[in-house]
Amino acid sequence: MEKIISLCKRRGFVFQGSEIYGGLAGIYDYGPLGVDLRHNIKQYFWSKFISDREDVYGMSAAILMPSRVWEASGHMELFTDPLIECKICHERVRADQLEAIAEHESKHKKGKAEWSKPTVFNLLVETKLGASENTAVKVNLRGEITQGVHVNFKNILDSMHPKIPFGIGQIGKAFRNEITPRDFLFRQREFEQMELQYYIKPDENEGKKQFEYWKNFAFEWYLGLGFRKENLRFRQHASDERAHYAKDAWDIEYNTSFAGWKEAWGIHHRGDWDLKRHSEYSGVDLSYFNEELKQRFIPWDIECSGGVDRAFLFILLEAYTEDEIDGEKRVYLRFSPRIAPIKVAVFPLLKNKTQLVQKAQEIYEMIKKEIPNATFDDNGNIGKRYRRQDEIGTPYCVTIDFETLGENGDDKKDTVTVRDRDTGKQERIRIEDLIKYIKV
Ligand code: GAP
Repeated sequence: MEKIISLCKRRGFVFQGSEIYGGLAGIYDYGPLGVDLRHNIKQYFWSKFISDREDVYGMSAAILMPSRVWEASGHMELFTDPLIECKICHERVRADQLEAIAEHESKHKKGKAEWSKPTVFNLLVETKLGASENTAVKVNLRGEITQGVHVNFKNILDSMHPKIPFGIGQIGKAFRNEITPRDFLFRQREFEQMELQYYIKPDENEGKKQFEYWKNFAFEWYLGLGFRKENLRFRQHASDERAHYAKDAWDIEYNTSFAGWKEAWGIHHRGDWDLKRHSEYSGVDLSYFNEELKQRFIPWDIECSGGVDRAFLFILLEAYTEDEIDGEKRVYLRFSPRIAPIKVAVFPLLKNKTQLVQKAQEIYEMIKKEIPNATFDDNGNIGKRYRRQDEIGTPYCVTIDFETLGENGDDKKDTVTVRDRDTGKQERIRIEDLIKYIKV
């Protein structure tokens, strides 16, 4: 983990939030390569869960919502963690995190802290909106992006007239006042979620069928981020572990190098919990009328919910590799080309040969039209350039040399070398076939 945190900073993936002011615990900023990687993860979610499908709509709800929404959803009362406070130094930790407790105790003489009795601590972040103290209203930053979808259920029915079963997908920031934010991007206070709420008719068999379908769909999607199958698994929540809204809940877990199996993604059977509660609390009827069956009912919701930042961290853990190439040690990120922040780097073999540089620039412009995540580099020797691209996970490096210009005969004119990041092997490819080769 330490190597990854250091690489993330050095190469412009992730920085501590507001670092020059000392930072904030559990808050991170993303640099140029970080935003590209995040964008690619989100784009892959959006295409597979939303835009490629006829039965799912996309939307984007606001982050700020009245506290009444969270009373209705049950989060005001039940979105809590057990908290204990050290009576000596007043640091607070989660009572169910043995690792955090041990870490704290080791700071005290003889490894002993004096703990308060556990209390419940609500994770919702609160703020106020309004120009004066008297008129300001209490609002919450959303603790899950889900509620923005449920409160718009009627708007989607009235504007899109969907036929059940159908889904509404969304990507956006969520905020939780985590007692002990830790493990870099794993547990943050501000993070981003990608979610699908899939509404179905309220029927046990239909519920089982859809739950199974979305569980497998989410697993296949996660694999597509470039994970080895043996590093992912399902785990069902025990009944005392499930969130207050869930009738059934399964996690997709990733086998992390820092702490073993950890939650990556959740699939939840939320039943009619949310729509029923919002109908009650808002006074607006959130039922659905099924024309074919001539039946009115509150649909059930099968939810797929994953963290963008957590996927980002797990992708880095999975991709980080140290090996030896051409007798030299190197670090490289084995990103899938689908999500790599830079997909291809273009180099002239030598920087001071005008004809090479011109030809390389021409080829770079050609590639960039088709593959926007391309870069040009003529800095330092070619070996150093390869190492730099390896370290940020660029799958392909294209080099323009004297043979490209036809200086060693006509048979290799208009060909370039393409180097594969993982094996270091180079192949000569005709310029006209280059885009097809890289896009495969
Ligand atoms: N709407 C359901 C929901 O929010 P959750 O299991 O609390 O369920 C879903 O969160 C996903 O959001 C998790 O699987 C994880 O990927 C991500 N997530 C949750 N809390 C997080 C945190 N503090 N920091 C980073 N990601 C988090």
